[in-house]
Amino acid sequence: MKRVAIYPGSFDPVTNGHIDILERGLKLFDKIIVAILLNPGKDPLFTVEERIHMLKISLKKFDTIEIDTFSGLLVDYAAKKKSHAILRGMRAVSDFEYEFQLALMNRRLNREIQTVFLMTGLRWIFTSSSIIKEAARFGGNINGMVPPVVNHKLKEKFGFINSK
Ligand code: PNS
Repeated sequence: MKRVAIYPGSFDPVTNGHIDILERGLKLFDKIIVAILLNPGKDPLFTVEERIHMLKISLKKFDTIEIDTFSGLLVDYAAKKKSHAILRGMRAVSDFEYEFQLALMNRRLNREIQTVFLMTGLRWIFTSSSIIKEAARFGGNINGMVPPVVNHKLKEKFGFINSK
C-alpha cells in the first residue's frame, strides 16, 4: 500500500521552507499531495492559478508530488484522497499553539487521520510567506528564501520589474 500524505496550506507563495518540509516528507511517504486551500478567510496576494504555477515550476523535479486544491474540511479532503496523514512543518515554538489546535480539531473530526509534524531546517526557522511578502513589498532582498520563479513573481507583483 502506498503511503500518501496531504501537505495543506495557503502557499501564498511557496517558500524554500515549504520545499524543505516536502523533501523531508518524501523520505517518509511514497507520495505527497500539496493541497492549496481555496477561499481562505485571508486575502491572498496571489491567485490560486498563480500559486499553482509557482508550485509546479518549483517542484518539477519531484515526480511523487501532486498539486491540488481543496475547499471545506481538510480531513474530508484527506479521506477522499485515501490518505491517513496530514503533513505540517513546525518552525519556532510560536507555531506550536496553532498547530496543536489544528491537529487536535482534525483528530476529533476524523480519528483515522494523523497529523505528522516535521521540524523545518534551521535556516528556515524564521521564514514565512508573510514575512517574505512584507520584505518583498518594500524591495527587500529575498534571494535564497524562495524559489527563483517566486522571487520573480514577487518583484512583478510589487512593481519592481515589468510583467510580460
Ligand atoms: O498554511 P496555512 O495557511 O497555515 O494552512 C492552514 C490550513 C489550510 C492547513 C487550514 O486552514 C485548513 O486546513 N483549512 C481547511 C478547513 C479545516 O479543515 N480546518 C481545520 C479544522 S476546523
